[in-house]
Amino acid sequence: MRILLVTGKGGVGKTTTSAATALRAADAGHRTLVVSTDPAHSLADAFDVPLGDEPSSVADRLDAQQIDTQRRLERYWGEIRDQMMAILDWGGVRGIEAEEFLVFPGMDELFALVEVRNQAASGAYDVIVVDCAPTAETLRLLSLPEVLSWYFDKIFFTQRRLMRAARPVLTRVTDLPIPGDEVYDAAENVFVAIERARAMLLDPQVTTARLVVTPERMVVSEARRTYTYLTLFGYAVDAVVVNRVLPDTLEDPYFARWQEIQAEHLARIEESFADVPVLRLRLFDDEMVGEPRLRLLGAELYGDRDPTRFEGHRPFQVIETGDTVRLELAMPFVEAGELDVARDGHEVYVTVGPYRRSFVLPDTLQRREITGARLADGVLSIEFAER
Ligand SMILES: Nc1ncnc2c1ncn2[C@@H]1O[C@H](COP(=O)(O)OP(=O)(O)OP(=O)(O)O)[C@@H](O)[C@H]1O
Ligand SMILES: [Mg+2]
Repeated sequence: MRILLVTGKGGVGKTTTSAATALRAADAGHRTLVVSTDPAHSLADAFDVPLGDEPSSVADRLDAQQIDTQRRLERYWGEIRDQMMAILDWGGVRGIEAEEFLVFPGMDELFALVEVRNQAASGAYDVIVVDCAPTAETLRLLSLPEVLSWYFDKIFFTQRRLMRAARPVLTRVTDLPIPGDEVYDAAENVFVAIERARAMLLDPQVTTARLVVTPERMVVSEARRTYTYLTLFGYAVDAVVVNRVLPDTLEDPYFARWQEIQAEHLARIEESFADVPVLRLRLFDDEMVGEPRLRLLGAELYGDRDPTRFEGHRPFQVIETGDTVRLELAMPFVEAGELDVARDGHEVYVTVGPYRRSFVLPDTLQRREITGARLADGVLSIEFAER
């Protein structure tokens, strides 16, 4: 079972890449599902066929599904929310405010991922390609399960024990609407479903993320941050797709400057994503919708490589010991003598001979000083001081 999460900034070509990747996987013989968890769906436009909330066939061995996130949210969370609303209402928190409290941003997509997990568990597919919402949303969403398990663990279950003990008394002395055991059971089911989805997404043997970028300054900056945060949250990235690269054959002087600019950004992309394959995709002379064009695009993107067989990487690990924090980077085939580590604000540059690699530090490390760096057994470890 392979799950590919396709993510990137708005408009870079996530949906197109997802559709083309899925089609290529299906053509290679894998039973494939391509699903969109972005509430603003456009998979149907990419394939130029109508799609619904359940998988439907779009090509040989290929199904597509646009998850109705609102419906999923209602199914999983509806009853719990209603009961909790009653309690909040009793405490004077009403309407929109209460609803906001119980349905936090990204929650609908979270349940879309639960649906992805269910499809994965169904045994009907070898490969699932997930067309995710634009980067910021997806990132927050992907980090949510951690927050959620805390929420359920500390608040819900503790509360349940307290409520069990207090219910007989409370019902006698107040008119507080106390949630029954069935609400807690429903919450527990939701929790288990989310935990399963999280375990699946965090297993690098099963799930990898594929980042789509375009050779433009802001897009590249955001993708570098995404790369850092995906790694920090424990997700493996397996490839970067650089989309809309102007072809070399272009002679038009109108685009000459653009070609120079792209070349600069392409160099930065190579340096920023040194751990993973960087696949280039040209800007086609047509809008790439419909099966034949997606097939052409997929062929150019992957050539004779199997789109499902890229290996996931987590370029670094953050290890906390007492007050110090260590950031460890895998750097196989590197000799200690030629190494240089420099920092410029939020970024760290590692130079090994002619080869340079740079990355954005996670927020927590941005505020700390680097106190040392050493290389042993193919691992570069950078130490950060106490705050
Ligand atoms: N390499 C390319 N050459 C030509 N057209 C392209 C290329 N890549 C994408 N397109 C076109 O650009 C448009 C936007 O692409 P797409 O919908 O895949 O982006 P997206 O990242 O999914 O956007 P959103 O963030 O809105 O979901 C589509 O019309 C698509 O056909
Ligand atoms: Mg899209």
